[in-house]
Amino acid sequence: MTTTGRQAAKESSGQRVADWFDGRLGTHSLGKKYLRKVFPDHWSFLLGEICLYSFVILILTGVYLTLFFHPSMNEVTYHGSYVPLNGVRMSEAYASTLDISFDVRGGLLIRQIHHWAALIFIAGMLMHMMRHFFTGSFRRPREVNWLFGWTLLLLGLFEGLFGYSLPDDLLSGTGMRFVDGAILSVPIVGTYLSFFLFGGEFPGHDIIARFYSLHILVIPGIMAALVVAHLILVVYHKHTQFPGPGKTERNVVGAPFMPVYMAKAGGFFFLVFGVIALISAVASINPVWSYGPYRADQVSTGAQPDWYLGFAEGLVRIMPGWEINVAGHTLVLGVLIPIVVFPLLLVFIGAYPFLESWITGDKREHHLLDRPRNRPIRTSIGTAWISIYLILLAGGGNDIVATRFHLSINTVTWAVRIALFVLPVIVFVATRRICLALQLRDRELVLHGRETGVIKRLPHGEYVELHRPLSPAELHTLTQHEQPRRLVLGPAEDTNGVPSPNRRMPMLRLRARLSRALYGEGTQVAKPTAEEYRQAHRPNEHPADELPAVEQQPGERQMREHQVSERQVSEAGPPDG
Ligand code: HEM
Ligand code: HEM
Repeated sequence: MTTTGRQAAKESSGQRVADWFDGRLGTHSLGKKYLRKVFPDHWSFLLGEICLYSFVILILTGVYLTLFFHPSMNEVTYHGSYVPLNGVRMSEAYASTLDISFDVRGGLLIRQIHHWAALIFIAGMLMHMMRHFFTGSFRRPREVNWLFGWTLLLLGLFEGLFGYSLPDDLLSGTGMRFVDGAILSVPIVGTYLSFFLFGGEFPGHDIIARFYSLHILVIPGIMAALVVAHLILVVYHKHTQFPGPGKTERNVVGAPFMPVYMAKAGGFFFLVFGVIALISAVASINPVWSYGPYRADQVSTGAQPDWYLGFAEGLVRIMPGWEINVAGHTLVLGVLIPIVVFPLLLVFIGAYPFLESWITGDKREHHLLDRPRNRPIRTSIGTAWISIYLILLAGGGNDIVATRFHLSINTVTWAVRIALFVLPVIVFVATRRICLALQLRDRELVLHGRETGVIKRLPHGEYVELHRPLSPAELHTLTQHEQPRRLVLGPAEDTNGVPSPNRRMPMLRLRARLSRALYGEGTQVAKPTAEEYRQAHRPNEHPADELPAVEQQPGERQMREHQVSERQVSEAGPPDG
């Protein structure tokens, strides 16, 4: 057979396989539709991929760990390779974690990869969530996908807590003691709940096995289903994109799934895996052998949860130890208030898309992202929220901060208490001002172009700096956004003196107030109108238009070539607000 003959035979067998699948699964039409799906190119879209890949790594390493981990609280005497604990009585769970670390081939590395991937997974989710928050990608039609993501974050926090508790070392047992304390503080039913969860008095004999089922089966199962639903919705809605020339609410500009995105994404998976493996190989995490087995009468110093639960720990640590007695029941407010505030902080973020669309009344679809500076109040709420999270994280480590910096723990606790109320306000105000300053800068750039540093002397002796007008693409990016108006209730009475019904509706009044806070005076800098733009660029009004009057400087030709067309000006349009 000739070479071409062989090739043809090979192609036809490939073709036959493809036909076989197409006939049964409809792969041809599916592939035709989805393999050309376009993905926009922006680094922040990689955050979602980091979440996805670290989730896959968690499942792969988690399955390996299940082969050797024994989720049992039965007491055994340790006789493994770690000599300092030889002869010590401990739970089977702890003994098997020591075996994974010292006796199972590659066990310690896999444990470390699992733990580091968990930390990176949740950091990735938080950053991914904040990128959606700051750019407004949660708006219609993506509110449901936001909720799916938010649920994933919540489940991720609990999944991490349960995993952290499994080895049954002194640190994880202290974490469980914390959970027990929080449950006990629930009024009336707290004790019952605690007995129910732990199968008797804390720590009982069941909790590791129960957390194990939740950790390897129930929660990952729900999370995997949610991730699939999340990604199906990303494909169904199509990607949002940052504003720019050629990008509209009706198209997506970027590279196709096959082959460009596929190659990039495949490479990025190995990059994420490689970096996590490298960190795990060089940076020890959760060295359970040095903490010893859990005993309910002991607690180690410097006990910390993993970073993502630090804010819950911080809330409890900075609360004064208030207790009150109501109808014969002791209410431990020092713990009860934090366990109410903790979910509220998360619920606020989860509900934000619905809250914002209720306030603004904006029910339209949005596929173009906001530049965070153009929504100063939303951006400020986001940064203030992050500051609360971070300050509480510092509160959760008040003992570490105190010992490392040689401070009194009371000073650190008081500093965190004060900062919790003061810092978010400062961050809010500073972010708002920065956003407004950036809007002002955009306005200046549109009207006067970029400063070039080139000074020109006019015939009558005046010195002026040359400004380079922006390119049409830059002009479009800086002026394409809408400037929403605030909700106005209208006059209190009509012309006949009849009070307006609007005024009597408290929810509407609240909406109007919140809308004023979001889009009212002082929340945006009016973007330049076409008229202002024309004025600023009238011949002889602007030094950039007078270039021929003086000697040619490098780049001047380019400056004149970048004059903006009338079409661009009309696209920019007048501000709505
Ligand atoms: C297991 C966790 C998660 C995974 C694997 C994941 C994965 C992804 C991926 C790959 C994308 C498309 C790329 C991108 O826009 O970044 C995406 C989009 C999205 N994610 Fe997530 N995500 C997770 C958690 C979250 C969380 C915690 C939120 C928010 C609370 C969220 C909200 C969204 C939204 C609203 C979109 C659509 C945005 C758009 O089309 O631009 N996701 N997610
Ligand atoms: C999706 C997110 C997951 C997170 C955030 C997570 C987190 C954790 C953490 C922080 C630990 C403690 C590790 C240590 O010993 O230092 C752990 C342990 C463990 N995880 Fe996961 N995990 C996840 C998924 C899974 C899955 C899917 C499985 C199994 C299929 C699994 C199986 C295990 C086992 C067996 C242990 C105990 C072994 C040990 O601690 O050495 N995990 N997990």
